[in-house]
Amino acid sequence: MHPLDPFGFGRPGFERHARFFRAEEDKASLSGLVVAITGANGGLGMAASMALAARGATVFMLCRDRKRGEAAAAQVRGDVRVAVLDVARRESRAALVLPELDVLVHNAGALHANREEVEGLETTVATHVVGPYLLSRRLQSRHSIWVSSGGGLTQKLDVAATFDPPLPFDGVKAYARCKRAQLVLARRLGHSVMHPGWADTGGVSGSLPAFHRLTRSILRSPAQGADTIVWLAAQRPPPPPNFWFDRQIVAENPLPWTRAAAGEEDRLMERLEGFLDREG
Ligand SMILES: NC(=O)c1ccc[n+]([C@@H]2O[C@H](COP(=O)([O-])OP(=O)(O)OC[C@H]3O[C@@H](n4cnc5c(N)ncnc54)[C@H](OP(=O)(O)O)[C@@H]3O)[C@@H](O)[C@H]2O)c1
Repeated sequence: MHPLDPFGFGRPGFERHARFFRAEEDKASLSGLVVAITGANGGLGMAASMALAARGATVFMLCRDRKRGEAAAAQVRGDVRVAVLDVARRESRAALVLPELDVLVHNAGALHANREEVEGLETTVATHVVGPYLLSRRLQSRHSIWVSSGGGLTQKLDVAATFDPPLPFDGVKAYARCKRAQLVLARRLGHSVMHPGWADTGGVSGSLPAFHRLTRSILRSPAQGADTIVWLAAQRPPPPPNFWFDRQIVAENPLPWTRAAAGEEDRLMERLEGFLDREG
């Protein structure tokens, strides 16, 4: 095991796990498959768009900035279309019109150093939890895939702290709590959820520069980080809901003390359902 990659989240881990991948699964044409990916103008979302479009899928790259989206789409070969979506904003979700989807990938995400708000919600929870939940309720999709994080495994579901992170604001913790909430939410909605390991993207270098400097030599490529997104999206019919890493089902609570307290998952769902009225 590589000393910088004790959990197998880096490239050494990916290469080890990839020995068990079935190459024939990556060859099937995805012609006719309609996929939408949030946060698709960079990092994992763009890598997933490229891989799916290369195999014949129609990919809607959902990006909050049209120019950035179109610049990204220009680098993708295949049937790709850009649609504007800021997943954290109600009007943007409401304005999104898409055909019926086979797959919706909740990929948009960011780790914020400072506490910020969007439409009265802390930005991390708005982007990773509330926005995608409401988007999922609005769009018809046969299969939904949430892009969570290994960081979420370090946190226990805490609804109050997820929605209103304690001060002083700790962006890493706020992010990890939201990633835990995504794991729970995906399971409760009957969706797939995966984590990508550690991939070298603008998100990582921009938000975690010290971590990026330390681990740069062992980080996965964006395509390797996106591999399980692509593999899940390509499954027809969609697999039963589960938590995936490198095409394998993995445990939601490898740290036993992160198991949710009784009633906490219901509190998450109730809190989210409370947003449905306002969504219109
Ligand atoms: N890379 C990793 O090692 C890693 C590890 C664990 C989990 N993840 C997760 O993987 C996902 C992708 O991350 P990444 O590493 O590819 O980061 P990235 O390169 O920063 O890409 C994130 C994408 O999300 C978009 N985005 C952020 N907020 C948005 C919003 N409100 N509405 C729409 N789009 C929004 C960004 O758009 P702009 O360009 O407009 O900002 C960008 O396109 C995230 O959910 C992240 O938490 C990544």
